[in-house]
Amino acid sequence: MDASRLYKIRTDSIQTDLAAISSLCDGESILEVGAGAGRVLKVLAKLEQASVIIGVERDAALVDLARSDEAVRSDPRISVIHADFSGYLPPAPVSRVLFSFNVVCEFLDPRSRIEVLRHAARCLTGDGRVIVFAPLHDFEAFSERETEHRFSMEGPDGQSWTTTIRCRRDHFNQVSHCVVTYVRDVDGHAVESRYSNALITRNELLASYEAAGLVLINEHTSYDLGDGDSRECLIHILSKGAL
Ligand SMILES: C[S@@+](CC[C@H](N)C(=O)[O-])C[C@H]1O[C@@H](n2cnc3c(N)ncnc32)[C@H](O)[C@@H]1O
Repeated sequence: MDASRLYKIRTDSIQTDLAAISSLCDGESILEVGAGAGRVLKVLAKLEQASVIIGVERDAALVDLARSDEAVRSDPRISVIHADFSGYLPPAPVSRVLFSFNVVCEFLDPRSRIEVLRHAARCLTGDGRVIVFAPLHDFEAFSERETEHRFSMEGPDGQSWTTTIRCRRDHFNQVSHCVVTYVRDVDGHAVESRYSNALITRNELLASYEAAGLVLINEHTSYDLGDGDSRECLIHILSKGAL
């Protein structure tokens, strides 16, 4: 059993952000940075106004999974590109560049975040938008060095798997290092994968946009884009600044 398939099942169940993504990706051409196994591409495929949808993903196994997803495979508007986004330019400028979920946090140091945002600006049409989703940290819990989250899910083999995500926060570097362990309940077979995420504050994001030549034109603090007080994420809509 490989970790990529288990990752796909684990992340496909995340749906809280999908309505916000659909309403913000209202452009003619959309590029998703770090498309993973295609969770978001499947949703973008439902948007009728988009004539070009590009997912860029650097992990080959995830690219294969995204390409084999029925909604992606059957849609001629979608291309899944196996590349590091920093070195990829779309064939023509796009109207939306999307960093969904916590993709911007995959760029662990400030310099690489500014670079990737600057590159996103390069991919845009004149009136295009960069859309960034980022987790909004609970500062009361920020001092916790270790976190653990455990849940059960049905694996690709139809069996039940206990999934545990353990994260250790490196406060000095503001990075969280996480180990995901999937254990098949029936025989204890275990599969492990790792990832690291930067713990970015809102102010740091705002400074990164400025350094990258992007201008914040709108901000939401919840997935539902309403004015409720659920503050589980930040959504930033950015345009290219004057050159
Ligand atoms: C947290 S996953 C998000 C996947 C998907 N966007 C979603 O919302 O479900 C982040 C993905 O970004 C990819 N990624 C990170 N840095 C990248 C880069 N420089 N170029 C392309 N993909 C990258 C990772 O391989 C990973 O699959």
